[in-house]
Amino acid sequence: MSRLVVVSNRVALPGENRAGGLAVGLLSALHARGGVWFGWSGKITREPNGELHQQRVGDIRFLTMDLCQRDHDDYYNGFSNRTLWPLLHSRMDLVDCDRKRREGYLRVNRQFAEKLAPLLRDSDTLWIHDYHLIPLASMLRGLGIGCRIGFFLHVPMPSADLVQALPEHQRLICLLHACDLVGFQTQGDVERFRTYALLFGGCTETGPTELRAADCHRFRIGAFPIGIDTGLIAQQAAEAVHNPAVRDLCRSVAPRQLAIGVDRLDYSKGLPERFLGFQRYLERHSAQKGRLTFLQIAPLSRGEVVEYQALRSQLEQIAGHVNGSHAEPDWTPLRYVNRNFAHDTLTGFYRMARVALVTPLRDGMNLVAKEFVAAQDPADPGVLVLSALAGAACEMKESLIVNPLDLDAVADAIATASGMLLGERMERWHALMKRLRENDIDKWQRGFLNALDTATSSSLASTSPGHRIPAPAAAG
Ligand code: G6P
Repeated sequence: MSRLVVVSNRVALPGENRAGGLAVGLLSALHARGGVWFGWSGKITREPNGELHQQRVGDIRFLTMDLCQRDHDDYYNGFSNRTLWPLLHSRMDLVDCDRKRREGYLRVNRQFAEKLAPLLRDSDTLWIHDYHLIPLASMLRGLGIGCRIGFFLHVPMPSADLVQALPEHQRLICLLHACDLVGFQTQGDVERFRTYALLFGGCTETGPTELRAADCHRFRIGAFPIGIDTGLIAQQAAEAVHNPAVRDLCRSVAPRQLAIGVDRLDYSKGLPERFLGFQRYLERHSAQKGRLTFLQIAPLSRGEVVEYQALRSQLEQIAGHVNGSHAEPDWTPLRYVNRNFAHDTLTGFYRMARVALVTPLRDGMNLVAKEFVAAQDPADPGVLVLSALAGAACEMKESLIVNPLDLDAVADAIATASGMLLGERMERWHALMKRLRENDIDKWQRGFLNALDTATSSSLASTSPGHRIPAPAAAG
């Protein structure tokens, strides 16, 4: 098996307790093959320092580089999170088209490429993650790297019409054609990418899962819905009931039911709409008033970006209004908490909850939806209210699927979930859990890497020797 090299903006460094689903899956692939995880160190320096930091755990090397303030502003806060993130989440109204930030994004991708290239061998398998690193494969090809390269987009792929609105979109999106495999969360994302590639990317179709780029290089596309470590979450949740934070929450909520939401504070998560949906529930289902307390955990995220600051103020205002209108001297209907919790504590919170509200306006997959289900007590499972606009909705049909913009529908789904009888809850939970066990995080990483192996052999066969992908002009 070839050595695996993973590249992502954030790296789950040893001891950092970032043992989220993605980290668990990638670490297990790295353990199996041995390899390198490369990315940003998380540190911001005043001036560029060009250093590479190294840590080793068994056969895995963690290699990270710092970003200087200017690069962090342009690449991370700027083009990644003020241009690509809103574009990919279909929020054209928030897209910033500043050329300086775009150049900064390309500059940092070039730094990644230059640091990484000398470490790569032709026999390596390189797996690049997410929207921060769209140009990287092409830049590496430009530096003569010939190993197999896969790219996985964790966030949604929007329609070609939306992507078309991004200035110089072809000079960015078409850089993905340098990969051997481009993976997405859902088949819908694959179809939107295919349409874009055919309409604007100069590609032709050579098979149901293969495209030929303008330079004749063939590459595969496919859906690889990310899963969770289902067994581990179930075990963590069962053990977490003894956790003091979980016991305190339990005591403070009883005898009422708990509804829970856990999301980064991000406008894609539909939090204002969710708060208003909960308010609508209190109004439309007044007979249930006092039965359910809603806890929204929303750790701050990307706090230097102005749109995130505005969202924070908006949520504080709505939460205050909901509680001001509906609280009783001995009951606060909406608890809104901006801090983060250890992952195992969260699984304990999930297990206590009768209802989960996962209602993003757009989401690549949403692992909270999956973790909530895996964390349930099989003898008394809670009910998932899930947005039709999350990738997870494709696989989780037994949840209560809602349109997050339809506040009446959200309100009614909360009432239905709260009142659902045990028999129906168990039936829905068993069906969901079976699929989560089948399609876990291990299947995701193995599926992608197997497809990358076969994609490489077919694309190599389709390309004459010595004619690997030329670097598109935009990469420079
Ligand atoms: C999403 C993205 C990830 C990103 C995460 C947290 O899930 O797909 O690439 O790491 O959000 O965002 P942050 O900006 O804190 O890395």
